[in-house]
Amino acid sequence: MVYQVYPRSFLDTNGDGIGDLPGIEQRLDHLSWLGIDTVWISPFYRSPMADFGYDVSDYCDVDPLFGTLADADRLITAAHQRGIRVLIDWVPNHTSDRHPWFIESRSSRSSPKRDWYHWRDGRGSAPPNNWRSVFGGPAWTLDDATGQWFLHLFLAEQPDLNWSNPEVVDAMHQVLRFWLDRGIDGFRIDVVHCIGKDPVFADQPAALGEIDRVGIQNESVTHELIRGFRRLVDGYPGERTTVGEVNLGDLSSIGSFYGHGDELHLVFNFLPLYAPWTRAAWQDMIERVEREFPPGAWPTWVLSNHDVRRVRTRLGSEHAARAAAVISTTQRGTPFVYQGDELALEDAVVPERRRVDPGGRDGCRAPIPWEPDRSHGWPSAPWLPWPPHADTRNAASQRANPRSMLHLYRDLLAARRASPALRRGMVRLLDAPGDVLAYERVSGEDRRLVLVNFGEQAAHVPLAEHWQVEVASASQPDAGSLPPHAAALLRPSA
Ligand code: NOJ
Ligand code: CA
Repeated sequence: MVYQVYPRSFLDTNGDGIGDLPGIEQRLDHLSWLGIDTVWISPFYRSPMADFGYDVSDYCDVDPLFGTLADADRLITAAHQRGIRVLIDWVPNHTSDRHPWFIESRSSRSSPKRDWYHWRDGRGSAPPNNWRSVFGGPAWTLDDATGQWFLHLFLAEQPDLNWSNPEVVDAMHQVLRFWLDRGIDGFRIDVVHCIGKDPVFADQPAALGEIDRVGIQNESVTHELIRGFRRLVDGYPGERTTVGEVNLGDLSSIGSFYGHGDELHLVFNFLPLYAPWTRAAWQDMIERVEREFPPGAWPTWVLSNHDVRRVRTRLGSEHAARAAAVISTTQRGTPFVYQGDELALEDAVVPERRRVDPGGRDGCRAPIPWEPDRSHGWPSAPWLPWPPHADTRNAASQRANPRSMLHLYRDLLAARRASPALRRGMVRLLDAPGDVLAYERVSGEDRRLVLVNFGEQAAHVPLAEHWQVEVASASQPDAGSLPPHAAALLRPSA
């Protein structure tokens, strides 16, 4: 399982209200105890923080807010000592507008780095084409100094790099090497499907309406660039990994980013972020992942991240969030858990005056409460308000309570580690009555059965005869009797 750390909100150690790298190191034992294999840390590079670190002004340094390169080295070593692998975020599509490359590029039309970004003449006083940015408005901003427009699929503070320029490819490959040489185990690659651009920058067809460019940007040249990353990463000893964020709508396009085993090792499957809590929707997702991903592609399952409302908030109850945890950790593929989902956190309610994110995503980025007392283990008030019920939904209280979400996750991960069927077996959907989703995982002699009741009523499932409960999201009278919105992992009866 991969555990996502959003460093600003994990734990502060120096009292500035912002989580930092020493804070992650301090709580590595929480992650070991939970039983995770890998952490992915959202960006901690130098950044003006217009998009909270996804606007990088130096890829080879740590922002002083988060610590120093020495802190990063210590964190990597401390994680490795506990058998935890470390993935860092890499943001290849765009830099900050304060990155020295962009400052140089915008300085004049004849700058040697002019072509490192996408500069175009406007159409009269209008932008070069009709592309929209994710955060609203045109994806182009006019730079008065040189009278040309630059492309930014996100904020104007995040100009897009021009990956058709081999110097950009070289410079960014050096960034990968810089971190691989420091011992990191791989990268989560931000909006990787966006890096290749249409060389003629054609208008988006009117039929697509005002849809932003990131949801449809898919050029074949991107795959060639990704094969380059893969060759570089595979050239390093040990098991190094790449996980790509591909925000395209259909699964087969997303699946194409695995290539023929020569592109990304893993690609995010975001379907669960948008699925309603029904048997039909979740069964359909499992079937589609099996059907539409290329053979040999290892899926992923994402329930939350720093860009969307938390699973507990979306599904509307802790019961459903617990059942969803059973599903995601018993699928074929790697589960991704966003920090705080293991505590069943809800999004914080952030009053207007404290909102800071240009994308309205503050609620899911609330700080992690570690202790029950009012400071929740933080040395001073954090940058965002606490999530609801932090007096019970905190790491210490839940560690003391064997029925907590935290223990449920721990039990699920332990069960997964112990079972070849859960780790890598095939998945087979089974017939079950009404609102019950049932599937089996099988590897050789090893078998597990998972039952999920999406309904409001308790359900009885005859097929659970000869099985016993290994881990359940809610207490149930016997293997085949599921309370409403509950899930159980079953093993064959002894
Ligand atoms: C996806 C990241 O997850 C999100 O937080 C960010 O705003 C955009 N990419 C731009 O980097
Ligand atoms: Ca701090």
